[in-house]
Amino acid sequence: MKRGCLIGVTLCLAGCGGPQSVLDPAGRDAEVLANLFWVMLAGAVVLWLLINGLIHYVTRIAPRPLGKRHAETLIIGGGVVFPTVVLAALLTYALSEMPSQRALGEGLTVHITGHQFWWRVEYLPDGAEEPVVSANEIRLPTGSRSELQLDADRVIHSFWIPALGGKTDMIPGRRTRMSLEPTLPGTYRGQCTEFCGDGHAFMAFGAVVMTPEDFSAWLEAEAAPAMPPESAEARRGAAAFLSEGCGGCHAVRGTVAAAQVGPDLTHLAARSTLAAGILPMERAAIREWIAAPEDFKPGVEMPGYDHLPPEDLDALAAYLMGLR
Ligand code: CUA
Repeated sequence: MKRGCLIGVTLCLAGCGGPQSVLDPAGRDAEVLANLFWVMLAGAVVLWLLINGLIHYVTRIAPRPLGKRHAETLIIGGGVVFPTVVLAALLTYALSEMPSQRALGEGLTVHITGHQFWWRVEYLPDGAEEPVVSANEIRLPTGSRSELQLDADRVIHSFWIPALGGKTDMIPGRRTRMSLEPTLPGTYRGQCTEFCGDGHAFMAFGAVVMTPEDFSAWLEAEAAPAMPPESAEARRGAAAFLSEGCGGCHAVRGTVAAAQVGPDLTHLAARSTLAAGILPMERAAIREWIAAPEDFKPGVEMPGYDHLPPEDLDALAAYLMGLR
């Protein structure tokens, strides 16, 4: 029994840290939510202690039989007055924090669309006319509040980066919005939190927080077209990319591939993860993903290419790994 409790507590506490934890805030909005959690927990502990103290008093300490006056005092004091005071204080505190969760963004606007099961990400810095298109990773600068505009393609998804703030639903045909003000540079993890089909659990993304200078440099690089392939193998991969029809779904800016059906791959290898947060950005993983995406993400719309000769799969992986 004791060992079971210990394992349970260890498992619960293990979920309290890491790149996808509400209790490890890296932004103003997440700080508010983490504080809310701790204040609510403290309130719950106070109530728990009082109620258990009352039960102990009534069953073990109070003289018997309990007089009518005495019983009424206990019921009204412990059962009505005390919970009302504690719950009203918690409610007031929680409501006072709500306006901060509705603040408007400034400077950078990021337009994010939920697809099955990946994310289209478009950056629109202040004054820019054309968005910088990317996918499956969201980068934000510290020191300002960025505006996030959220859409969905076919079904409802929900956008959540626990380390940076609360979650917001993405609804087809209706744009929702939120804003985030990250404070701590680092790589965090976001996750879809509304069941959206077989691949829902595998619809994640990397969330990278950078200093404003690093972010500007990165955005400039992200806006540039893809570098031409360097090795002979990568050139063969680029040719296979077009001849196998990859360009019918994906865009690689600077080449004839310009379709917007699937994720933009222009700077694929510069992202922290592959396939929306589920695989490491490594050549071997790219190769396996292209051969059989369904093995990694149920319900994925990309077809498998395991009919290709191994050398073509190697060449495709070499080409894509060179898109930095
Ligand atoms: Cu998208 Cu769940």
